[in-house]
Amino acid sequence: METMSVKVRSIREDAIGIRVFELAAADSHALPAAAPGDHIDVHITEDLVRQYSICNPGCDTHYVIGIKRVEPSRGGSEAMHQVVREGDVLRIGRPRSNFRLNDDGRPKLLIAGGIGITPILSMATALAARNAPFRLHYFAQSPEHAAFRRQLARSELAPHARLRLRLAGGALERAVSLLTESRQADEEIYLCGPAPFMALVQQSALDHGWPAAAIRTEYFAAAPAAPAASAPFTLRLQRSGLSTEVASHETILAALRRLGLPVRTSCEQGICGTCEARVLSGTPEHRDSYLSEEESRSGRKICVCVSRSKGRELVLDL
Ligand code: FES
Repeated sequence: METMSVKVRSIREDAIGIRVFELAAADSHALPAAAPGDHIDVHITEDLVRQYSICNPGCDTHYVIGIKRVEPSRGGSEAMHQVVREGDVLRIGRPRSNFRLNDDGRPKLLIAGGIGITPILSMATALAARNAPFRLHYFAQSPEHAAFRRQLARSELAPHARLRLRLAGGALERAVSLLTESRQADEEIYLCGPAPFMALVQQSALDHGWPAAAIRTEYFAAAPAAPAASAPFTLRLQRSGLSTEVASHETILAALRRLGLPVRTSCEQGICGTCEARVLSGTPEHRDSYLSEEESRSGRKICVCVSRSKGRELVLDL
């Protein structure tokens, strides 16, 4: 995948545990402008690649990303907080998306939990610039935990944005229920945040009659996993002429590596799409959060890092 060099122009502590990075082109070339909801792969080290949402859509001089330090870290957020310094040069991928904002004039309900504000902020910025109808609800532990408060207080966003603070347990459930109980005609939800928060909002919206197709989501970590083990199956690789048994607790990725087949990966959590492969026959059991509903239903693509086979045999174009 094509990468570009960027210089870390600034780093600021924006909220408790959240740092905001400005990444500027390392040479005189303009950066490809990001669409709302786009993310980039950041190559923190040779083999540590993480995806972060771009918060400033449409800008070709620099990208703004917000990173929460997660505990325990799988390495990415810790390195971005502890190792990366202003002036460092990083490799990044071109902006891409699995959380596209429909540009169709339908009203939007943007809901963010915690660091989920990053793609939601970019969507709000784009909608405000187009004068499009939207409302934004941002759930955070406290004012000090809420990132990008200065941006949200700007005149173009402030009338649409509401900060929801210190809600947990039953209080959070009631707030989410009230928020989703009414729907403007054709309104769509765009939702990003921690998995339990997203599950709560999705369920509440469905309970209040929102169609599933009107609820769009982005996960920062893998979606709640399906039961880890399922029946073993035979994996056949058409182009290389190899085949192997994938055991109950093994991933297709692990089986491919066992066969010595090189596979490009990044998140290895089913959220970035780097490991996508074509399915030639068989029925995938999708466990990723990357493929669209339509792509999953078609059964022609699979993210090999997490997904498996529903049937006894799966044939891939590898
Ligand atoms: S490596 Fe990211 S989806 Fe598989």
